[in-house]
Amino acid sequence: MIRYPIPMVPGPVSVPEPVLAAAAVDYPSGDLEAEFLELYRHARQGLQALMETRNDVVIHTGEGMLVLWGAMKSVLRPGDRVLSLVTGVFGQGFADMARGLGCNVAVFELSHDATLGDIEPLVEIARRFQPRMITAVHCETPSGTLNPIERLGEVKRQCGDGLLLVDAVASIAGARVAVDDWEVDLCLGGTQKCLSAPPSMSFLSVSDAAWDAVGYVKYAGYDALLPFRHVLDDGWFPYTPNWQGLACLDTAVNLVLQEGLDRCIQRHDDVAAHCRRELARLGYRLFPRPDARPSPTVTTVYLPQQREWREFDTDLRRAGLAVGGGLGPLAGRVFRLGHMGSQAQRGIVDRALAVLAKV
Ligand SMILES: Cc1ncc(COP(=O)(O)O)c(C=O)c1O
Repeated sequence: MIRYPIPMVPGPVSVPEPVLAAAAVDYPSGDLEAEFLELYRHARQGLQALMETRNDVVIHTGEGMLVLWGAMKSVLRPGDRVLSLVTGVFGQGFADMARGLGCNVAVFELSHDATLGDIEPLVEIARRFQPRMITAVHCETPSGTLNPIERLGEVKRQCGDGLLLVDAVASIAGARVAVDDWEVDLCLGGTQKCLSAPPSMSFLSVSDAAWDAVGYVKYAGYDALLPFRHVLDDGWFPYTPNWQGLACLDTAVNLVLQEGLDRCIQRHDDVAAHCRRELARLGYRLFPRPDARPSPTVTTVYLPQQREWREFDTDLRRAGLAVGGGLGPLAGRVFRLGHMGSQAQRGIVDRALAVLAKV
């Protein structure tokens, strides 16, 4: 198997030893053992700390996309109005998913190199459109940008009982995510980004208002939230629980809490600032506009002029550096350095920069 000594793919990231070791155990059946429920309760508590919330947290087996779909299908019905903030590929994805569910979708779109600035136009649309749900992405991984979710509370307040859904898959544990302060009803996360666990699990916080909607919509499916509403009381899971996956997630959360959430976030900020500064010094052009907020977890960079993505990537890999390519409209135009979780290390970034200086 090929392994890269300089891992900088923006998820799945390199998994540290203690997290790997948590999976190498012959666990009994999670359906039958009280110990599994205790682990679930513990992991849930840790995730509440990372997301700064007292809301319930549901942990699913499956990658990030599972909770993206599960959250949407569990609270929306055909004809519901959805307002999507689109500043990148995943923001656009929510608008498409809502349309796919038969919802009436309004889009507030900015270019992929921008982040939300003035909220007045969005406030105005919310006031007129009265959406049932607002969707937004915190870290747009393809663009390397971070939207100011803290400003969306004002938008949400314009729409009565409207819910705020935020994809924080690529920011939880790498940037501040303050679910309660920011009035987020559904905050979605995954294991394979800043938590540095394998891509097997996903999770989301669910506010009381969101649970009410789940109870009303009663969506049934593998990704449904409803069966998890009382999971800690009745211990009944809708499918065989993934003990290995949960153990990895719990261990990963503990590692962040042991480091200290603030210190962990500061580490991401410092490494990202260093990465951006040095790339600019080497003559690389960063993708986000100067007035956009760059993500502390991933840096998106224009390909050097006259370089074609495939051969550039091959050269980097030969030198031991694995990076991400451009997605959607950015395919073939940019590359991405994932300094998240275990990869948010100055040493790793410096070795990547040394390759990028020569290639
Ligand atoms: C912002 C964002 N949301 C959702 C996802 C989907 O997660 P997964 O690939 O684990 O399904 C990703 C994955 O890259 C992501 O970056």
